[in-house]
Amino acid sequence: MRILLTAALCLLAAFPLRAQTATPPARLGLCAACHGANGHVSMPGVPHLAGQRLDYLREALKQYRDGRRNIPVMRAAIGPVSDAELDALARWYSAQAPQAAP
Ligand code: HEC
Repeated sequence: MRILLTAALCLLAAFPLRAQTATPPARLGLCAACHGANGHVSMPGVPHLAGQRLDYLREALKQYRDGRRNIPVMRAAIGPVSDAELDALARWYSAQAPQAAP
């Protein structure tokens, strides 16, 4: 668990956030290490988030936070996030343009 989190933080340091037009949520940096700042992913096993339905993303994040989805890497990443922060993250990724099919 600690190793995963350290790895995520190292990735975050290696790939700083690019400038975005809208203001990104404060906690986006950690998420971006795995999901990309715009929700387009190249890492195996990590889901794309761009353009996903807002209610789906919000519910998924609540499930990780509450432990109903017991995936250690996401539980560690989301942590004890407030409803407002959780909502901002869901809104951000939902508003990104989906990735074109290859
Ligand atoms: C260390 C890599 C990593 C980090 C950091 C991370 N995630 Fe994830 N995320 C994953 C993986 C792997 C999954 C797939 C987990 C599963 O099988 O449920 C996932 C799943 C998700 C899902 C569910 C997608 C779906 O289609 O059901 C959402 C939403 C999500 N992450 C958002 C976030 C947010 C927001 C953050 C920042 C707080 C974040 N993630 C940080 C790796 C990461």
